[in-house]
Amino acid sequence: MTLRLPVVPGDGVTLRAFRATDAPLIQEASGDELIPLITSVPATNDHAAALAFIDRQHERSRTGEGYSFAIADPADRAVGQIGLWPRADPGSASVGYWIRPTARRQGHAAAALGALVDWAGTLPALARLELYVEPWNMGSARTAERAGFERAELMPAWRSVGGTPRDMVRYALLLH
Ligand SMILES: CC(C)(COP(=O)(O)OP(=O)(O)OC[C@H]1O[C@@H](n2cnc3c(N)ncnc32)[C@H](O)[C@@H]1OP(=O)(O)O)[C@@H](O)C(=O)NCCC(=O)NCCS
Repeated sequence: MTLRLPVVPGDGVTLRAFRATDAPLIQEASGDELIPLITSVPATNDHAAALAFIDRQHERSRTGEGYSFAIADPADRAVGQIGLWPRADPGSASVGYWIRPTARRQGHAAAALGALVDWAGTLPALARLELYVEPWNMGSARTAERAGFERAELMPAWRSVGGTPRDMVRYALLLH
């Protein structure tokens, strides 16, 4: 099933489809110590690899895998990515996000997650969002809490990050 990726307005950010001109965002993110380990952002600062990443994001809505948005600032400069991924259990989807290192601590993640939550609330049959945060990741935990997510439980060795099983804290938000 093909998913239609809308343009979602937020408070100081816009969620929109990736464009080829966003390649420098992906190239910067490739140098982050965490982003390539928890996403499919390539670990190499290579323009062609960045364009291939952008193509893969379009493919994800074409195949129904999920919604992958670029987070754009008021000048329409891409500052990060946020995704909504429907899960096998009906009514539930998981969320993931990152912001380029040079654009952090400016409220972009909080604004993007707030916008995503508001939009997700308009999707029929979606009742619950989840996201997973490593216990040390205060920036991500605060971002989740600001958008209304509540800490649910610690999931020991829940996900492999760079080949090592890592604990994750599950956060959840009921949409209705
Ligand atoms: C986590 C991340 C998305 C935060 O993005 P950001 O745009 O800098 O976050 P914001 O500026 O919107 O800040 C949101 C909240 O987090 C807090 N915060 C952000 N970075 C923080 C940090 N490094 N340490 C402590 N708090 C932090 C902010 O103060 C704010 O909280 P407040 O409302 O209480 O003031 C960003 O650091 C990142 O991309 N990290 C690498 C990838 C990652 O961890 N993704 C999430 C995986 S679960």
